Amino acid sequence: MKRLRVGILGATGLVGQRFIQLLDEHPQFEITALAASDRSEAKPFAEVCSWKLPTPIPERFRSLNVEPCRPLLDCDLVFSGMPSSIAGEIEEEFAKAGYPVISNSSNHRMDNDVPLLVPEINSSHLELIGVQKRSRKWERGFIVTNPNCTTVALVLALAPLADAFGLEAVSVVTMQALSGAGYPGVASLDAIDNVVPYIDGEEPKVETEPQKILGKFTNGLIEHADFRVSAQCHRVNVTDGHTEAVAVKLKKKATREALIEAMQQFRGEPQKLGLYSAPKRPVIVLGENNRPQPRLDRDLEGGMATVVGRVREDNILDFKFTLLGHNTIRGAAGAAILNAELLVAKALL
Ligand SMILES: NC(=O)c1ccc[n+]([C@@H]2O[C@H](COP(=O)([O-])OP(=O)(O)OC[C@H]3O[C@@H](n4cnc5c(N)ncnc54)[C@H](OP(=O)(O)O)[C@@H]3O)[C@@H](O)[C@H]2O)c1
Repeated sequence: MKRLRVGILGATGLVGQRFIQLLDEHPQFEITALAASDRSEAKPFAEVCSWKLPTPIPERFRSLNVEPCRPLLDCDLVFSGMPSSIAGEIEEEFAKAGYPVISNSSNHRMDNDVPLLVPEINSSHLELIGVQKRSRKWERGFIVTNPNCTTVALVLALAPLADAFGLEAVSVVTMQALSGAGYPGVASLDAIDNVVPYIDGEEPKVETEPQKILGKFTNGLIEHADFRVSAQCHRVNVTDGHTEAVAVKLKKKATREALIEAMQQFRGEPQKLGLYSAPKRPVIVLGENNRPQPRLDRDLEGGMATVVGRVREDNILDFKFTLLGHNTIRGAAGAAILNAELLVAKALL
């Protein structure tokens, strides 16, 4: 099968590096362009990228010159991992010029005509692509987004509960990894021996994205789901993997066993279609009292699953549990690649 040629916008960043690592041997996509800021432009990738992954830079990219993030790249589609301060307009320029844009940035996630896609949950939202192309008069290009890294881990655990019991309210307290802030990210003197109880812009995203993701596509629009979310986000001294302490209020009565069963049995389109990056189990429930832990559990299912533990009754809401998601894999590059695989399976790419 002929592979689609992809460009990576923000290729030198932490998310960009994950794209390069995860796409290196991908059967459907091959990287033909790497793009970043004018700091890196026209220089060999290995010279300008501060590579942070434990696997080496694939040899063929070391000497490839980095290009500017302008819609002149030699590729069929782009994956975007640019800072939100500049991503919005650049992604629109690419889509207008005919490139499908599969984005990690927050800029377009809440646009009425842009899918905020989690393939296990809301593949029907892909209907928005037609709406988007018509309303923006884009012929071939379009924008599809994946959620914030904290949101995606959370909604994978919430979706089976919403299906089985209905959701009324969710409270989540997060402990988020340093890599979530990009590179160089949080200064070492702020990070070591410390917890920072504020992440700019994070709580509003976690409080609003889940209702769009779990919403229904009707009459050309997404009708947002009607539960409330309260989020308190913290940066902690962990390299990768966001931990979240979650409490839920359900619409119907449930037992602890039924809750666990619903999460463990949860499967979606990526599993049915056998997509290349799909985790076999999107939600894994561990039985040990002291799990999940980022260092031990973030790489289960190749970093593509939400790992849940400590499911128990709550004195204020109905149930509480702890979950973990890999922020640069399922929370970013891996999520975008799974989105692109679904688009290929639906003949939208
Ligand atoms: N890290 C995560 O866990 C995570 C998870 C989900 C979503 N995201 C989102 O993904 C995006 C990238 O995050 P990151 O962690 O990879 O950040 P990062 O490590 O700071 O990397 C930023 C990338 O954007 C490029 N860039 C900066 N300014 C630019 C400009 N003016 N024009 C074009 N490119 C520019 C940088 O290139 P240079 O090297 O040339 O400066 C670099 O390649 C952000 O929107 C972030 O919110 C991150």
